[in-house]
Amino acid sequence: MAKKADNRDNVHIIELGKIRDKRGNLSVIDESKIPFKIERTYWIYDVPGGEHRGAHAYRSSLELITALSGSFDVAVHDGTHEEVFHLDRCSRGLYIPSGTWRQMRNFATNSIALVVTSTPYTPHDYIRDFQEYTMLKKEGRI
Ligand code: TYD
Repeated sequence: MAKKADNRDNVHIIELGKIRDKRGNLSVIDESKIPFKIERTYWIYDVPGGEHRGAHAYRSSLELITALSGSFDVAVHDGTHEEVFHLDRCSRGLYIPSGTWRQMRNFATNSIALVVTSTPYTPHDYIRDFQEYTMLKKEGRI
């Protein structure tokens, strides 16, 4: 049984578990495994070599990112330090709380990034300027 996330405030890997079967494996994301209610799901695919995605932070949205296929890196920044997580298994996800700058990069060919989030698509929830982000963090406004 996969462990339920016990920490809403910190970036961390969540093991989703794998239901093994001679017909193939199956993994599940549901609200017993992640610390938010799922409001929206999207996926990113056909990323050209060398491209990056998702260089932004959210004011309120929480999310889980999973490499459904292939692999990529998710670089997270808290305003002071960067940490890079390499995602390459569809039975685990990276939980990212609001107020975290994150960028997805180094996509292997044919990778698919699945993102489940806690909010509907809300353009004004985004902070897309890194300097603005670091200033808001310094001032404790996000
Ligand atoms: P964008 O947020 O720029 O992608 P990235 O994750 O790389 O930062 O989104 C790309 C486009 O898709 C942009 O025009 C907004 C649109 N979009 C939606 O319409 N709904 C969504 O849920 C998301 C995530 C994006």
